[in-house]
Amino acid sequence: MKAVRIHAYGNADVLKYEDAPLPDVAPNDVLVQVVAASVNPVDWKIREGYLQQMISYQFPLTLGWDVSGVVDAVGSKVTRFKVGDAVFSRPDIRRNGTYAEYVAIREDELALKPGTISHVEAATLPLAGIAAWEAIVTTAKVTAGQRVLIHAASGGVGSIAVQLAKSRGAYVIATTSEKNRALVRSIGADEVIDYRVLKFEEVAREMDVVLDTMGGQVQEASLSVLKPGGILVSIISPPPEERAKALGVRSAFLFIQPSAAILSQLAALVESGKLRPIVGAEFALKDIAKAHALSQSGHAVGKIALYVGQP
Ligand SMILES: NC(=O)c1ccc[n+]([C@@H]2O[C@H](COP(=O)([O-])OP(=O)(O)OC[C@H]3O[C@@H](n4cnc5c(N)ncnc54)[C@H](OP(=O)(O)O)[C@@H]3O)[C@@H](O)[C@H]2O)c1
Repeated sequence: MKAVRIHAYGNADVLKYEDAPLPDVAPNDVLVQVVAASVNPVDWKIREGYLQQMISYQFPLTLGWDVSGVVDAVGSKVTRFKVGDAVFSRPDIRRNGTYAEYVAIREDELALKPGTISHVEAATLPLAGIAAWEAIVTTAKVTAGQRVLIHAASGGVGSIAVQLAKSRGAYVIATTSEKNRALVRSIGADEVIDYRVLKFEEVAREMDVVLDTMGGQVQEASLSVLKPGGILVSIISPPPEERAKALGVRSAFLFIQPSAAILSQLAALVESGKLRPIVGAEFALKDIAKAHALSQSGHAVGKIALYVGQP
């Protein structure tokens, strides 16, 4: 099969579109024929070697941890899926990924793909969708009427987080730049702050929840816009606990894991029209270097899809 693999850490030159053996299928695995994958910042972070301390990979490594496709074969212990099912997943990042024509994924990391969207759209949902769900629903437990600030609302995670917060009845303030204002309004943001012109901490006040997708100074300033008891949820780095305590606010950091249960909830929201994936760019698998460059620019719009093959 064709796959994009790396044989060493490095810049985009290490990405090789090449022949690779078909994955082994363990008893709890489902072999998925990949129709589409998507690019997430973690892909190039792993490519560059930034996660070496956390996960010791063996080379060659197939990158990519988002997929939508069709079940091609099932392991002997698989009970929930059958050949021909359309499925989507954010699989285990410790295994070979989805920049390939086939990928083996544990059954409990897979869900049925939403029927109302294409494979290309569905492939962009799992990783960013699980992150947004864990932040907005599981951790912050956003409820109707709450004020929620979402940073980088035009990005992969932010564009889903805005929609999740809106679907729960929140008042959403979003940061992005002017060129993405209309898009972010169209997915439900009540107010948009152009971070290039205004300091969000001078505009957003008394927030119940802030989603930090940026880290650094954005994270630091985010603590000060929370109302007492509010929560800062970061997907970048653990916020300083002492400072949060001194301000009378809460903080949390999360690093996502695969979750079929969350994927099923996201699929239900898509099918009920409350969530739509924003696909800002689509590349063929062999053009992966261009897709990584766009992600690494920090200015992708919505998600970057990778088309792999039929149907
Ligand atoms: N911990 C976890 O489990 C987890 C899970 C998922 C993602 N993440 C991390 O979360 C981060 C965000 O991921 P993502 O996929 O959403 O990224 P992304 O799609 O690459 O984000 C791009 C967006 O960020 C916006 N942006 C850039 N600088 C900004 C600023 N200073 N203020 C507001 N918006 C800004 C850009 O808008 P403009 O073009 O208008 O500037 C662009 O639309 C990444 O570092 C990723 O690795 C962590």
